[in-house]
This record gives sequence, C-alpha cells and structure tokens, in this order.
Amino acid sequence: MLLTRRLPGLLYTYRYTVYSVGVIVATLLYFLFRWNLLCVNLQAWQHVKRMCHLYEEGMAIGSLCAPLCISKDIHSLTCHSFQAAKEAVFSAEWYNIRLVFKSVSRDIQALHWYDNGVLRYPTEKEFLSSIRTIVKRKLNLTLAYDTAVRLSRLKPSYEEKDLTKRQQEMDSLWYLLQDNEYLLSTIFTDKDIFPQLIGTCGSYFAVEYLEPVPSLSSYLSLNDNKEEWGQRLRFAVQILDLLEDLDTGFREPFHLCNVKFNHFGYVKNKKKLKFIDLDEVYPRSIINNYFMEIESCQSDEDCEYMDCRSVCDQTTGQCRGTVTNNNLQIVCEKIFLGWGMSNTILVPGLLMSQHTSSELAPILRRCANPTGGDGKLRTMPDREVKKRLYTLLNEIEQSVNSDFFL
Ligand SMILES: Nc1ncnc2c1ncn2[C@@H]1O[C@H](COP(=O)(O)OP(=O)(O)OP(=O)(O)O)[C@@H](O)[C@H]1O
Ligand SMILES: *[C@@H]1O[C@H](CO)[C@@H](O)[C@H](O)[C@H]1NC(C)=O
Repeated sequence: MLLTRRLPGLLYTYRYTVYSVGVIVATLLYFLFRWNLLCVNLQAWQHVKRMCHLYEEGMAIGSLCAPLCISKDIHSLTCHSFQAAKEAVFSAEWYNIRLVFKSVSRDIQALHWYDNGVLRYPTEKEFLSSIRTIVKRKLNLTLAYDTAVRLSRLKPSYEEKDLTKRQQEMDSLWYLLQDNEYLLSTIFTDKDIFPQLIGTCGSYFAVEYLEPVPSLSSYLSLNDNKEEWGQRLRFAVQILDLLEDLDTGFREPFHLCNVKFNHFGYVKNKKKLKFIDLDEVYPRSIINNYFMEIESCQSDEDCEYMDCRSVCDQTTGQCRGTVTNNNLQIVCEKIFLGWGMSNTILVPGLLMSQHTSSELAPILRRCANPTGGDGKLRTMPDREVKKRLYTLLNEIEQSVNSDFFL
C-alpha cells in the first residue's frame, strides 16, 4: 500500500534514471527484433498477409496460396528466430503435417520485360534454357531435359495452359530457382538428404519441418548420465551417415560451408537426420571455383568461405584452387570436439564428456586437426582416420545403446 502511494513520487525523484532505463530497454528490444534474435508470431502473420495480398491481386501463384488465403487450412503459425540470411522463416500446420516457410530474395532482375510498352515473356524454350543455365552456374550440373521441364513448372506433372497463369508461374519460378535451398530441395527429391519441398506461394516456399536436435546446452547439464551419452553417440553416428551420403550420393561431393548444431534436424521419429540450412551447401567444383576466382591472398585467412577453407600459396600470392578441408573435418572440429582456442577446449562438443574413452579422444583430435597445426585447420582427415572414427563410433554406440534398447 505504502509503496503504491509513494510510487509516483519515487518515479519523479528518479525520473532521469527511469527515462534512461526506458530508452535502453527500448533500444535493446529494437535490436533484438531487428537482428531476428527475437521474433513474434505477428511477423509470420504479416508475411502471410503480404502473400495473400499478392495472391488476390493475381501476382502470386502456387499450391499453398489457396490453403493459406482462402480455405485457411494452414494455421498455427510460429516464428523462428536466429535467421539472419533469410528474410522469413516460420512454421505452420497443414492437416497433420508441419511445414516451414521460407522466403527467397526478389532482389534480381524480373523475368519479363517491356518492349515499347508491350509486356514480354521468354518463350518456353528460352525459359527452359535459362533454367539450365542457372543450374549449371550454381551447381555445375547439366540437367536432363525431363528434369528441366519438371523444374519449369510449379506442379511437376501439370502443364499450365492459361497464358496469364503461365506467366505468373514463370515469374514465381524465376525467383524461387535462384535460391540454393529451393534448388537443392527440388532437384534432389529422390535423395532423402535435404528437406522435402512441400509447396510454394509466390516467392515463398515450404519444406517439411524437421525436429530440432537436443541443444548442446541441454547436454551440458549436470546429469551427464549413460543414457544421454547413448543419445549423443547415436546422433554422432547419424551425422557420420549423413556426411557419407553427401560424399558419395552425388556426381561430386557436396560441402557444408555453414555447419552449426542447429542446422541438423530429424525427420519424424528420429530415424533419419537431414541438413536444414541449404543456403551454403555447394558441390565441390563450385566451391573450388570460388577459391580460384579470389584474385590475390596474403595469408590463409583470405582463402575461406565460412567453414570451407583453402590455403594461400605464398609464391604466387593466390589461393589454391581447391577446397582443402571437408565436412568430416568441420564436424569433428565444431560439433564433436567443441569450441576452443589453440588446442584447449573451452566449450565441450557433442562427444566430449566424462564418458569419452581414451581411444576415442585422440581419434577425434586427429580428425579435427589432421596435421596438428595451429589456427584454423585446412586439411582433410585421411582415409585411415576416417575409417577408424566410423568403426569406433559405431562400436561404442552399439555397446552403450544395447543396454537401453534391448
Ligand atoms: N525445415 C526446418 N525444420 C525445422 N526448423 C527449421 C527448418 N528450417 C529452418 N528451421 C529453423 O529456423 C532457423 C533458421 O532457418 P535457416 O537456418 O534456414 O535460416 P538462416 O537465415 O540461414 O539462419 P542461420 O544460418 O543464422 O541459422 C533454423 O536454425 C531452424 O531452427
Ligand atoms: C564442372 O564439372 C565438370 C565435370 O565434373 C568439371 O570438369 C568442370 O571443371 C566443372 N566446372 C566448373 C566451372 O567447375
């Protein structure tokens, strides 16, 4: 009682402090939202509103427009924070499937153009050939005719006959196809490595929702018991399986240049692991090309693309035109061992715990740092290390987990 009566007086006495605190809190909140460290579902609704507005104006088309805007079968929007590269990431529910919407950039030249005020579109043949050019440039892959035709449509086996609708379809596809994530999910539908594409609406597309992997902080908790160690081992083995698929499942290996704990996700019932963030996933020749095109370098640090690394050749002052580390090395370094500085681990990774055997630890270190050098590592673990790691992890996983899943 006394406090409530005295509150106005107190606020007045300390008014400058109150103002400053208010300003600081407001600024902090502003930046948290601005950098997407925080999000509210309102933002997701705004994206849907924009999508539906374009749809009603006849400027967006796609299989998810009607369920979102007319029948409202897609509901329960939830925003996802921590996205920096993508403008929008939010999940929703559609009957019993959960999907994740992502928006692609519209910051490129439109497909159509005006010729003396007349609206023009490329012919079907020209459109197909530009799709093949995009895929060649982005993935160094020559598309078979059938695949190119499939990519040129929103519904794989449906040919839009209505000219206006076809033009809208081409416009939407044009933006979508520039996006690495959309491209990988559409081209490699049969591989079961990348999230499955569910549908689109305008310049938004939706993929299957993947269950988050347990966060490292929950692993860091004190109850570091045997059962939890078993789960960690299982997760590690699944990561290794995924890396093997990325290495051998394609014409050339795919490199994950942005490896983070939360970029892995489970398909329902934790049977299969997939990689979530495909923005920085490239075939080897493309990443090699990237290093080749760097004009000059002074030190190795100039020859890096996020987690994908090469070395600077001091005699020529140019980056070596090949990526010199690989997925396994990055995963051992960033996921399995953890975060540290000059050979000391400060934040232990997935496989660093009191249960880590004296046989496993040195193998992990050799995998993360094959040459025993300092700084960022730029070599691939050799076949021997890889084989020993795969065998050892599978063995330990089986022996630990057989105690629990008899
Ligand atoms: N298919 C998905 N299933 C479940 N969650 C997802 C999916 N796609 C994205 N997310 C969640 O949304 C977050 C951001 O998505 P994404 O990684 O694609 O965006 P980004 O802008 O590249 O972000 P960053 O690289 O900073 O993680 C992911 O870390 C993940 O938590
Ligand atoms: C694309 O792949 C081919 C065949 O694998 C290879 O010879 C060529 O150098 C690659 N092109 C680029 C630009 O990397």
